[in-house]
Order: sequence, then structure tokens, then C-alpha cells
Amino acid sequence: MTRLGILTSGGDCPGLNAVIRGAVLGGVISHGYDFVGFRDGWRGVLERDLVPLPRQAVRGLARLGGTILGTSRTNPLKEGGIPAVRESLQVLGIDGIIAVGGEGTLAAAQELSNQGINVVGVPKTIDNDLDATDFTFGFDTAVQTATEAIDRLRTTGESHHRCMIAEVMGRNAGWIALHSGMASGAHAILIPEHRVALEQVAEWVQSARDRGRAPLVVVAEAFAPEGQDAPYSPRGLDAFGRPRLGGIGMLLEQELQRMTGIETRATVLGHIQRGGAPTAFDRVLATRLGMAAVDSAAGGRWGTMVSLRGTTIVNVGFAAALGRLKTVPEERYREAAVLFG
Ligand code: F6P
Repeated sequence: MTRLGILTSGGDCPGLNAVIRGAVLGGVISHGYDFVGFRDGWRGVLERDLVPLPRQAVRGLARLGGTILGTSRTNPLKEGGIPAVRESLQVLGIDGIIAVGGEGTLAAAQELSNQGINVVGVPKTIDNDLDATDFTFGFDTAVQTATEAIDRLRTTGESHHRCMIAEVMGRNAGWIALHSGMASGAHAILIPEHRVALEQVAEWVQSARDRGRAPLVVVAEAFAPEGQDAPYSPRGLDAFGRPRLGGIGMLLEQELQRMTGIETRATVLGHIQRGGAPTAFDRVLATRLGMAAVDSAAGGRWGTMVSLRGTTIVNVGFAAALGRLKTVPEERYREAAVLFG
């Protein structure tokens, strides 16, 4: 009987459990496969730490946030990792791996696949910044969560006649800021793809105030105003050597209050955007991707990633997904900017 292992790796996001359920149910029902789950991403493969995943284990999972398998940023490409992965699969009698992850995970999956290990990738990230897929699951939930939080900031801002700033995640892409900012009717949306001078932001804030509104600014964590070389990241690097972003909202709080004289408060939404139950959209997308990953394994389409094109799930090579970041196009920014101020 074919035996597949599934793992979730890198930062978590809502919908991971729905992928696990989709893969297991699709695999059991359509192909008669047996499943195991590796605990904490690639760590579970390297240390042979796994749990059986019979059909009953995934009951009711689609609506649960987080991942029942746990996650880690363990990199399997580090010294001795590739032969160790191969040996684990042999010893455990596992025919292939479904790896659910973002950039780092998929890059590792690509290399393992180049080395002859059977892997199918499933893209995930709240940032929606992976090329070769129109949407990643987790993004819709993050936008919904951010929008609800920003709506709350607006009511308290209005009571106090304050300028409110919401800092959202997204790493080097402004998708969460753009969508949550548009949904909540922000007076300014600041994204890393489009530099703006602080004077311009202050003007938008002032003009909203002049119309009797409590100004609302949504800023992406990697936004750098004109004149600032790089995104604000005072907290050093993460496990992959990438800057840990966050804090630009606090900087804007000081500057905008100084420039406009309007009392200003900033809130960093942080990991709240990654937690909680996935939206219906993300549950459906994640379930379809999980099922499609197993179909890909059954069809021998190893070394590929499942991805959403329009409304269809297709297979693409890892290279297509990893080649470049999917950032916000200028026309999407300009469309939103018509309503600023
Ligand atoms: O990639 C997802 C993400 O949430 C980014 O938006 C954010 O910059 C980063 O991960 C935070 O990572 P960590 O959970 O390691 O703090």
C-alpha cells in the first residue's frame, strides 16, 4: 500500500489543518493510501517523529486554526540533512512527502526533489507573496482578521478624535495592508512597493481631519518612507537570516503626531493575523490544494507544487514559485490611492 507523509513547516497560517484533512480524506477515499504526519516540519522527518493519520484523525479539522502537526523552521538542507531524509523515508516505508510551506520550505522541497526524493509542495502564507499561485490560503483569513481589528480602531479613534495607525504583517509584500486598508476605508495605505514621503502621509491625515474624520492609516510592516534606506527591523534576523520586521507603526505615531499636532496612536496587529479559524474561502482553497497534492502524488507529478490559477488548481514547477516575489503591482496601489486623504 502506498504510504505518504505530510508535514507543515515554516510560519503557520490558518488553513493548514484543512490541507491535512483534504490530503488524508482525498488519499484514503480516492486512492486507498495510508498517511502519517511528521511533527514540526522537517524536524519530524529527520528525527522520525511521526503520528499515524487515519481518517478519524482528521475529523472536523477544516475549521481549526494552527496545525495539529506543529511546525518549525528546521532546514533539511543543513549538513547531512538530505541523506538523513532519504534514510528516514526508507526506514519508515514512506513513498513520498507532501510538504506544506512557504518560500523556505518549498526551496528545501525543490532541492530534495532534485536529489531524487519524492516531494509535492503545497504553498501557504498569509503574505500572499508566492508567485505562480493567484492566492495562498491564510491570506483571506489574515485580511478578514486585520479588517475587523481596524474597524475597532476606527470607532475608538472617532470617539477621541485621534489619528489611528494599524501596522499589519506581509513581509516584503503589501497585500495584507492593501486589502485590509481598502476594506476598512483607510485614509492612507502604506506598502513597501510604493515609497511615500512622510510629508505626504501627514497631508492625507490632515485632510481627513479637516473633513471631520478620525484619520486612519494602515501600514505594512516593511514600508519604508522616502529617505529611509531599508524597512524598520530593530529585532535582528530570523532563523533564515531574514530581517524580523515590525515597529514602523510606532515610528509613524511619533512623526505624524509631531507633524500634524493630531493625537496619534499606533497598534501592531502582529501574530493575531496568523491565528484563529480560517475563513470559508481559505477552508475551501486549502481542502482543494490538499486533495490536489495527493492526486499529484498518485499521478507521479513529484517535484511540483499545486497552485491556484484563476479558479483551477494546477501543478507548477518549484522554480516558478520561487523565482520572484509576488508584490503589489503599481496599478493596484494607484487604484486604492484615489481614495486617500
Ligand atoms: O511570513 C508570515 C509572517 O507572519 C510575516 O508576515 C511576518 O513578517 C513573519 O511571518 C513573522 O515571523 P515570526 O512568526 O517568525 O515572528
